[in-house]
Amino acid sequence: MINLDRNENFYGPAPQCLEALKNISKLDFSIYSKAYLRGVQSVLSERLAKDYELEESQVILGYGAEEILKLTVQAYLKDGQKLMVPTYSWWYYKKIAEEVGAGNVEYPLVKEANRFTYDADSFVELYEAEKPGVIFIASPNNPTGNSIEPGTLKRFLDTAKDSVVLFDEAYVFGYNAEENRELLRNYPNIVIARTFSKYYALAGLRIGYGLVGSKLKKLMDFAHRYLGFNFVSEQVALKALDSQDYYEQIAKKMQADKELYYSELGKLEGFTVFPSDANFILVEIPKEIKEPLKKFLLDRDIVIKFMNEELLNHHLRITIGTQEQNRAVIAAIKEFMNGNA
Ligand SMILES: Cc1ncc(COP(=O)(O)O)c(C=O)c1O
Repeated sequence: MINLDRNENFYGPAPQCLEALKNISKLDFSIYSKAYLRGVQSVLSERLAKDYELEESQVILGYGAEEILKLTVQAYLKDGQKLMVPTYSWWYYKKIAEEVGAGNVEYPLVKEANRFTYDADSFVELYEAEKPGVIFIASPNNPTGNSIEPGTLKRFLDTAKDSVVLFDEAYVFGYNAEENRELLRNYPNIVIARTFSKYYALAGLRIGYGLVGSKLKKLMDFAHRYLGFNFVSEQVALKALDSQDYYEQIAKKMQADKELYYSELGKLEGFTVFPSDANFILVEIPKEIKEPLKKFLLDRDIVIKFMNEELLNHHLRITIGTQEQNRAVIAAIKEFMNGNA
């Protein structure tokens, strides 16, 4: 079975991550972390704070980036306020506001011929009209794959100084500590959400973290765990941070395969492939082939995501898998198209 529908990383974690598990003692499983004795939340928040040159209290840990998003909304979205999210975004964004009984307001992403972009003018206009309590910006965005341009991000953040902004970097394939530090210095009302699920191929561990602006003390307190975090998972995550070379090599392979998808699928009649900065690509396909293509791929044990949203309903989101998986997907789609030609 090839499952390229959930943006997981099938290259797997660095070998040192698995090694780390061998060094866990019986006692480590049985006792609460002792990090509090050093006046910090955990070994991982301590390490991240050092790398990012932030106060340790500015690093919050969660059960995936998912929890960082939820904690931010729970801490700051007040009664009657709305959560502002991009129109094309991870479906779960809209659910998070619902969970706390709040509503969403959607700011548009502009669809150009073969790419999506964030649009500052419409963002500013909507912000002024709605004054949302919390705003989500994803870069790269899921499912469109585009990042936000630095100038556009600046206009968004200059506009939204009275709100809390969650900047979701779940799909950044790298460790851009300096850029993050600079953003937090200029905008103390933002939270940058990161995860070990995608780049570090540790989705099963469920570890994400938030880098929290100095103005957001309430979130730091809200996210604090009196009894500490998951010591075992943290040992694995620490080894991932130490294995940047391994992950950079994987990111290079994925980049090469994205290029292959662009050129191979881009040639097919009626297909538009949107360039992506993430570990997936969005592909627009002719409406009429959606169901037969889905069946054709399933019959060959290939699962990719066929989008079913109002604005994206004849689109595929294909996770970039291993080289072998990607070649199998491309070959199967081409075979289907040749049979249909
Ligand atoms: C845009 C976006 N943000 C955050 C997440 C959360 O990932 P995790 O909770 O595994 O860190 C996802 C998961 O797919 C996502 O698509």
